[in-house]
Amino acid sequence: MPYIYLVVIICSIVMSEDMVKDGYVDIMNIDISSVVVEMMRKKYAHVPQLKYMQMDVRDMNFFQDESFDCVIDKGTLDSLMCGTDAPLSVSQMLEEVNRLLRPGGIYMLITYGDPSVRIPHLNQAGCNWKIVLYIIPRPGFESRVGCSSAKSIMEPVPLTERGLLPAGFVLEDPDSHYIYVCKKMHGSFGGAPQIPNQVGATIAQ
Ligand SMILES: C[S@@+](CC[C@H](N)C(=O)[O-])C[C@H]1O[C@@H](n2cnc3c(N)ncnc32)[C@H](O)[C@@H]1O
Repeated sequence: MPYIYLVVIICSIVMSEDMVKDGYVDIMNIDISSVVVEMMRKKYAHVPQLKYMQMDVRDMNFFQDESFDCVIDKGTLDSLMCGTDAPLSVSQMLEEVNRLLRPGGIYMLITYGDPSVRIPHLNQAGCNWKIVLYIIPRPGFESRVGCSSAKSIMEPVPLTERGLLPAGFVLEDPDSHYIYVCKKMHGSFGGAPQIPNQVGATIAQ
């Protein structure tokens, strides 16, 4: 069965289009703005793999439980963080994302928020994620360390047991994106705390 992706990332970015070029066949894009949705629907009318719906991420009851393999969010959670009732909105969104993902499914959060301000939200009651963090500098950023010794951006950044960056971690580009790859673990509701592993950190309830 083909994988089903929910992408809450429309607007001007071309990520969904690139995913189609990479062979993904069923991509649902949502945004709360009907203007944006209409614009994108028209722009990509010739790409049948891309579907668009106007929807609030805090209430996606249109979709059934466990109906998506992956949810990709670039900037939507960040946007909620800037709005009124931010903690409630973020909690509602994450609850919905967790509900929509099949067990083992992935929530990819692309954000400007470092672990100290994102992990506490991801760690909310009812969610049980295994999280791996990547930190990606902005395109064109040149590391002063030099290419040979610079760490690959594809290398996960380990988190401490408390879900923080390791002591002494130096963020070279302050405009980096943080990418949290969150795998939905079994026993999402009231699951036992998980022990961090080498690659990233699992999140304790
Ligand atoms: C910072 S923009 C990100 C745009 C795009 N992902 C990008 O990277 O260029 C945030 C988007 O979130 C949408 N948004 C804000 N609140 C929302 C909500 N409750 N439900 C769905 N979309 C929302 C806005 O309409 C906007 O398109």
